[in-house]
Amino acid sequence: MAVIAKQCPDISVTVVDLNEARIAAWNDEDVNNIPVYEPGLSKVVAEARGRNLFFSTEVEKAIDEAQMIFISVNTPTKTYGAGKGQAADLKWIELCARQIARIAKDDKIVVEKSTLPVRTASTLRDILTHTGHGVNFQILSNPEFLAEGTAVEDLFEPDRVLIGGDESPEGKEAIDSLVEIYARWVPRERILTTNIWSSELSKLTANAFLAQRVSSINALSELCEFTEANVNEVARAIGTDSRIGPKFLKASVGFGGSCFQKDILNLVYIARTYGLTEVADYWEQVIIMNDHQKRRFANKIIKTLYNTVNSKKIAFLGWAFKKDTNDTRESAAIYVADHLLYEQANISVYDPKVTDQQVYADLDYLATRSSDTNKQLLKVETDPYEACKGAHAIAVLTEWDEFKTYDWERIYEGMLKPANVFDGRNILDAEKLRAIGFKVNTIGTSS
Ligand SMILES: NC(=O)c1ccc[n+]([C@@H]2O[C@H](COP(=O)([O-])OP(=O)(O)OC[C@H]3O[C@@H](n4cnc5c(N)ncnc54)[C@H](O)[C@@H]3O)[C@@H](O)[C@H]2O)c1
Repeated sequence: MAVIAKQCPDISVTVVDLNEARIAAWNDEDVNNIPVYEPGLSKVVAEARGRNLFFSTEVEKAIDEAQMIFISVNTPTKTYGAGKGQAADLKWIELCARQIARIAKDDKIVVEKSTLPVRTASTLRDILTHTGHGVNFQILSNPEFLAEGTAVEDLFEPDRVLIGGDESPEGKEAIDSLVEIYARWVPRERILTTNIWSSELSKLTANAFLAQRVSSINALSELCEFTEANVNEVARAIGTDSRIGPKFLKASVGFGGSCFQKDILNLVYIARTYGLTEVADYWEQVIIMNDHQKRRFANKIIKTLYNTVNSKKIAFLGWAFKKDTNDTRESAAIYVADHLLYEQANISVYDPKVTDQQVYADLDYLATRSSDTNKQLLKVETDPYEACKGAHAIAVLTEWDEFKTYDWERIYEGMLKPANVFDGRNILDAEKLRAIGFKVNTIGTSS
């Protein structure tokens, strides 16, 4: 929405949220304090905020005044009832639809921006037409393909924008009005229009394919460790095949983030509800492989440290699910930490953008042990050298660029020996570290 506001100064964009603290942070005088860390975003907000970009908690007023409403609320995996652990929880979507229907006094275009199960538009249409005041609603699907960490860049130069809608004349008119907005800066040939179901399903499909590539290369990383093949070389060898391509072939401790797991589980659930067992099993394997990769990484640390990490200090470099974001949802670091804490390790965490409150909230959310025990066993540091001091091992969980630039000799001096590094992102110069004296474990190479 900030990018739309920046690119279209004549369009008034109001972002509303029930969460008052979040909106207050978006309105913080110092634009560097906005709640999402994303390269380039504060600059975009600084330009548009107060001009044609507004952040507010007045949801009803915003609905009343808008001609086009983007529903962008959360759609997490259900934690209760039917579909628990797989289906998307559409509670917030339905509440939004009911609220829009109640408030709207004139025709509106309602855009699905959240990632939704295929056929959600028919639910929305049902609610809007049955509970509304007889006004016309057109429903569009406009899934968001940005990646966290490169969101602003992705929005300025998207590979494509996808807009799905009804095939009726009114539907086509609604599609056109959204196409016109993106066409201010996106070349027309990159704006794809489809029927609404294809658009809804394409978002789940895109995430499933991307995550599948990660799980595929991670599956081979384990085989590489047993065969003296090198997963980086294998990735380069297959990535230069133009049919395969080089992206998303980086072996790692496993993918995280708020979207991949939730969207694949959702896809799996939808397939199961249609009785498509083989389809569901096929995609579920992507998640099974990812869980295995996280557990395998933690187990390797334990095994290397002579099968016990009890009271040993292990330093985590990185907690965010990837670099250049402060988002930690489903981050591999959380699960690796939980596994090591189960073995009574002491963990110290350093992440350049994640707060200590967030780290503890992530662990407490798992409810594996009491909040007090989490605080006792895990410390969050604001200085990486402090985090590594006196540690038996360092685990790299996020691929932040700054980790490569550290004074690794200084870190080595401060550690217990043998000093182990477990590079869960394959970003460090393993040869250089070995020359200093470190024992280095990487993903997908035999050490
Ligand atoms: N995060 C991403 O990179 C990304 C990318 C593509 C798509 N998506 C999709 O976008 C959606 C939102 O994701 P997110 O990461 O921004 O989630 P989020 O949980 O960070 O934000 C959702 C916000 O919606 C607010 N909200 C909930 N109900 C509301 C209501 N009735 N009225 C007003 N505000 C309400 C919440 O308070 C919350 O601040 C999801 O469906 C997700 O799959 C996210």
